[in-house]
Amino acid sequence: MVKIGKSEVSTTSLGLGTNAVGGYNLFAGLNDEDGIKIVKQALDSGITMLDTAFAYGMGHSEELIGQAIQGYDRSKFVIATKAAQDVKNGEVTINNSPEFLKQSVDEALERLQTDYIDIFYIHFPDDNTPKDEAVAALNEMKQVGKIKAIGVSNFSLDQIKEANKDGLVDVVEDQYSLIHREAEQELFPYLRENNISFVPFFPLASGLLTGKYSKEVSFPANDMRNENPDFKGQRFESIINKVSQISKIAEKHEVSTAQLVLAWYMKNPDITVVIPGAKKAEQVASNAKAMNVSLDNDEYKTIDEIFK
Ligand SMILES: NC(=O)c1ccc[n+]([C@@H]2O[C@H](COP(=O)([O-])OP(=O)(O)OC[C@H]3O[C@@H](n4cnc5c(N)ncnc54)[C@H](OP(=O)(O)O)[C@@H]3O)[C@@H](O)[C@H]2O)c1
Repeated sequence: MVKIGKSEVSTTSLGLGTNAVGGYNLFAGLNDEDGIKIVKQALDSGITMLDTAFAYGMGHSEELIGQAIQGYDRSKFVIATKAAQDVKNGEVTINNSPEFLKQSVDEALERLQTDYIDIFYIHFPDDNTPKDEAVAALNEMKQVGKIKAIGVSNFSLDQIKEANKDGLVDVVEDQYSLIHREAEQELFPYLRENNISFVPFFPLASGLLTGKYSKEVSFPANDMRNENPDFKGQRFESIINKVSQISKIAEKHEVSTAQLVLAWYMKNPDITVVIPGAKKAEQVASNAKAMNVSLDNDEYKTIDEIFK
């Protein structure tokens, strides 16, 4: 089990990303039944962190999770959610004001049908609110027991420093994967020094690191991967080539490439919880087995170097 920042929250180092649970605005072809199965499969497979956000289906992901967790012991898993998208008359703006964040916590609690949220992230920074004031509002929510840990996501390093002026930030969620490693330069050293946990998003590079693609793919309209340069041209070819090299190590362990990649993150000391997403319960069951894969130091380094 790993601990989240300075908080009392602890979880397995493998979680579930749920942007495809009710995230109709992000992917085509989703349905509620699969979404609920995905969440239950995670909890049944020993995964103890569910990562969601208001923005996934504008509240619908949280609602489906609220339904799925009924009947499970709430003390045995943690829920992380996020807010910042303020919807008025169909227009979405980013809002980090203390009033908006506190109202967002209360609304998320209702959708999730729970008494507390383990991690509450500010999903995106706005332009106006001083970041320490935004975090202070979440600290008020923490003091009254509505949330247990404070996170920020998609903040620049300067914004993270401002948010953490009073040492109240427990966790940062940002893009990081074997093919997007910018966070190693400045972010990881700062987080290490300040006892802040790190949760990478897009750990499987939206499926690219599972080894299932061998030639260029296209996705249905309304799938956010259509705009992703990782899936295009020379960059795509170079990634596929590297993935095929690490697939050989996966074969040696008799595991899938996705399981190998997830095990690599779990061995990485700068990563606290890895939260692969899924479209099907079977993917969750398979990814959960990565918790049983252990890489030796040479394998860890080889994978590291292939993608450096
Ligand atoms: N804070 C933020 O701003 C932010 C932004 C993005 C994401 N997130 C969080 O991070 C989580 C992870 O990101 P993500 O889900 O977009 O990307 P990801 O974890 O890199 O990739 C997940 C996708 O890979 C495919 N996949 C997963 N397991 C597989 C398996 N075993 N075999 C084959 N394919 C498999 C599935 O898509 P297909 O079946 O369609 O291939 C799945 O939806 C999200 O769910 C969300 O909770 C946060």
